[in-house]
Amino acid sequence: MCGIVGYVGDEQAAPILLDGLRRLEYRGYDSAGVAVHEEGGIEIVRAVGKLRNLETALSERGLRGTVGIGHTRWATHGRPSEVNAHPHIAGPVAVVHNGIIENHLELRAELEAGGFTIASDTDTEIVSHLIHREIIAGHDMVTSIRRALDQVDGAYAIAVVSENEPRKVVVAKSSSPLVLGVSRGATYCASDIPALLPYTNEMVFLEDGEVAVLEPDGFAISTLEGTPVSRRPRKISWSPVMAEKAGFKHFMLKEIFEQPRALEDTLRGRLDREGADVVTAEVGLSEDDAKAIRRVILLACGTSHHATIAGRYWLEEFAQVPTITELASEFRGRDAVVGEGDLVVAVSQSGETIDTLMAAKEAKARGAKILAIANVNGSAIPRMADASFYTHAGPEIGVASTKCFMAQLANLLMLSIWLARRRGTMSEGEAGELIEGLARIPHLIDENLKATHETISEMVGEFSSARDVLFLGRGLSYPMALEGALKLKEISYVHAEGYAAGEMKHGPIALLDSEVPVIVLAPQDRHYERVCSNLQEARAREAKIIGVTSAGDAQTQALCDAYVEVAPTHEALSPFVTVVPLQLYAYCVADYKGTDVDQPRNLAKTVTVE
Ligand code: M6R
Repeated sequence: MCGIVGYVGDEQAAPILLDGLRRLEYRGYDSAGVAVHEEGGIEIVRAVGKLRNLETALSERGLRGTVGIGHTRWATHGRPSEVNAHPHIAGPVAVVHNGIIENHLELRAELEAGGFTIASDTDTEIVSHLIHREIIAGHDMVTSIRRALDQVDGAYAIAVVSENEPRKVVVAKSSSPLVLGVSRGATYCASDIPALLPYTNEMVFLEDGEVAVLEPDGFAISTLEGTPVSRRPRKISWSPVMAEKAGFKHFMLKEIFEQPRALEDTLRGRLDREGADVVTAEVGLSEDDAKAIRRVILLACGTSHHATIAGRYWLEEFAQVPTITELASEFRGRDAVVGEGDLVVAVSQSGETIDTLMAAKEAKARGAKILAIANVNGSAIPRMADASFYTHAGPEIGVASTKCFMAQLANLLMLSIWLARRRGTMSEGEAGELIEGLARIPHLIDENLKATHETISEMVGEFSSARDVLFLGRGLSYPMALEGALKLKEISYVHAEGYAAGEMKHGPIALLDSEVPVIVLAPQDRHYERVCSNLQEARAREAKIIGVTSAGDAQTQALCDAYVEVAPTHEALSPFVTVVPLQLYAYCVADYKGTDVDQPRNLAKTVTVE
């Protein structure tokens, strides 16, 4: 989704804004622009397409000034074009915006009737004219912004500069994310933490309904109604190096290889191997609460939703608690039954996905307790939740989520063990065995990563021209099949379906012929024999079989056209190892086809529109 950056200080603003935008590229965009205060007034430079186009335009124009705002636009209202790119100027102000103004048509008609000329098709330009109209009425910059925002419905994070108050950037937010950064002599803002990491790790998260005035020596926050808010910056532990490629061809590949470390960091200090228990006060439940939970509802979107399906299987089996998974976008507005006694676990890498955020808010309003599982400290979902159980995967830059998925699995499994021990549904022996196995997973993944990558790189040439791919799995391998298919679709643009292996004969088997590769997840678990029968059924239709098998499983491997081996684990832990070859398969196919792996077309890292 759109990305915002802002800078006010003593350095030249344009290079800092461009650098910040580059660090936000992963959010997805199709045009970009900056506005800088120059001596004669505000100048804007905008360009369609990749940031290099903006960079060329900037070097031709040579903007000079130490205050400015920048934007990467992911088109919602109006096609990607220079005129629709942000910033949008109206009178003395320039505005960048992330979000959607729902009543923009009505406001546009009103402004046009009042004599304002609107150049673009965007909802954002409406905001700049609303602010301008208030300035004409004699208000200062902050008051004009407050009064303008009072007229809009929808989601926004905005950053504004004005020729009338040239040493300020003013920002405001409702629903869309915005973080401020503070360093000596400079203040920054951005949609996301990685944009600011090279400059500072002292950050402040703006809350909904707040406005902040940024000046070189600091910031002042107030509510939209004008009440001052006191908030101190917090130190973010991520380093700028964590958001670099470190010699890998793509962020996605780097992040796949970082999974052992991400998992280790997420498990650190939370596994009590001697006591056969999980140590976490973070889930915010007392022992009595744990026993009293009536039901768990797991809310998420996309890849995070796939992690929750595995979470459901663990919660039901180990903690014996009725559990459902809900796509957050489907949960809202359908009057779902939720209330006291329900523990709603909202799972989100970014912590900002609007569907998950709004669904969790709805559940909270109806009396459910909300537990957030998120990777970004201080993001919106943890902020609204009753408790937060963070994953510690570090910043994830590739649009296709990999290491955060792995870390989400870890937290969902730890939550299941923690609840199971409190509800008396898991013996010390069982818990001990599982915890020992979980602690060994980072090592198991690490040991096999390089070889798996090599095996898959060699095999993809044969399969990469396939137009459709089917992924099959049973039990805990079913959500991994869904995830494997999503990864392939996202970055290689190949149509793929993840299916419960047992469902294949209820429909998708009709698709099979010699042109369709079928990736079968066949770890040696309780479903193994039946999955092998499904594999045979696909083979009998001449489909090409790629097996994900336990190491040394010669019997299944003999039935495959190609196979990758995964390390044998406790059967409840198989998702941690089986998903890795699927991520690498998607990556290698995309790389073979030469697609834009880290910023696939039409996708955004953080989805802040419904
Ligand atoms: O930040 P979230 O985990 O809430 O994001 C949810 C989905 O948008 C996300 O998982 C999406 O499906 C990814 N691109 C998957 O790779």
